[in-house]
Amino acid sequence: MKSLSPRREFIVALAAAIAFVAGCKPTDSGGASAVSADTIIIGEYASLTGKEAAFGQSSHKGSELAIEELNQAGGVLGKQLQLLTEDNRSQAGESATIVKKFISRDKVVAVLGEVASGRSLEAGPICQQAGIPMVSPSSTNPKVTEAGDYVFRVCFTDPFQGKLLAEFAAKTLKVKQVAILSDVASAYSVGLADYFRKGFGAVGGEVVLEQKFSGGDKDFKAQLTAIKATGAEAICVPGYYNEAGLIVAQARQLGITVPLFGGDGWEAPELIQIAGGKALENTYYSTHFSPESSDPKVQAFVKAYQAKHHGEVPDAMAALGYDSVLVLADAIKRAGSTAGPQVRDALAATKDFPCVTGKTTLDARRDASKSAVIITVKEGKFKYLQTVEP
Ligand code: PHE
Repeated sequence: MKSLSPRREFIVALAAAIAFVAGCKPTDSGGASAVSADTIIIGEYASLTGKEAAFGQSSHKGSELAIEELNQAGGVLGKQLQLLTEDNRSQAGESATIVKKFISRDKVVAVLGEVASGRSLEAGPICQQAGIPMVSPSSTNPKVTEAGDYVFRVCFTDPFQGKLLAEFAAKTLKVKQVAILSDVASAYSVGLADYFRKGFGAVGGEVVLEQKFSGGDKDFKAQLTAIKATGAEAICVPGYYNEAGLIVAQARQLGITVPLFGGDGWEAPELIQIAGGKALENTYYSTHFSPESSDPKVQAFVKAYQAKHHGEVPDAMAALGYDSVLVLADAIKRAGSTAGPQVRDALAATKDFPCVTGKTTLDARRDASKSAVIITVKEGKFKYLQTVEP
């Protein structure tokens, strides 16, 4: 698939010349079209507001930091990188519209996004069709990169995450009978529930009951009461932090003391605010990154991030947002070009590239294989528990 016809390149160059003559300064987010000959424009669609604002905010802070560091070091191919960020308000349908605009109006070289798999699934086919590479920092549903050969991710996928949660339940929690409470409105949740179920069966476990909810629900007492009646020894909640937080709080209110656990969707400081530290004792989730790692690359990232954000500790979304920019910039450098097909080929050849979430190699499915960490909550604080290798 061709992304830039000679004619289109001419139009881009012409627009750049006009913008330059008119003295337009590129804007760094949203706003008007900003095409400049000496910048490489990258579009980022993110949930900066709305239900999963914690995801978009963190991911953006990470990508922004990487862009700043790269620009300070001289940019890429002698040009500065420019990040155009647009908010999809955590809503379905918005990401497709934003990405169409990025491609036709802003002439982005590549697209970054999203955290939530459902929204990456919307935008992937649009990038694929236009021949513009898309790099998802942290969408883990396998279908995301199945959109085609222009769609990549820099994180592990849910077949791995579901299996590691199953093994964690069997070996560390030592439970045999588990109930699942999953979100029917989320591609991520449906997928992860599935991979957990398969993985748990494979280690001799039994899913005694599966209950459902729909993202945005606030009352989970009916499902939890049904689960309590089964005597399940643990509850798997493959969902996002808003609902997971409420589920944990309501489970404890109903006198359910067994462990609850989930995947990376739990990760957000809001989880603790919503559920409360006490309810979160004996809960666990898997994710991509721990700021407690002694890796010098991680510590340099944590330090730079904290310096920029008043001491705030970066989470997995921030780390992967940062890594998505590094991987993309490295591919543009190796391609020696910003043309879609060349950048795509260079991305596909990414091998052992050092990231804060570990060495990144993109496989034939354009996915990364990386270790996961398991986090628990102790006295109202996230605490690293263990690392799981792929
Ligand atoms: N992996 C989740 C998804 O695909 C998103 C997520 C990533 C959430 C990292 C938190 C941390 O929807």
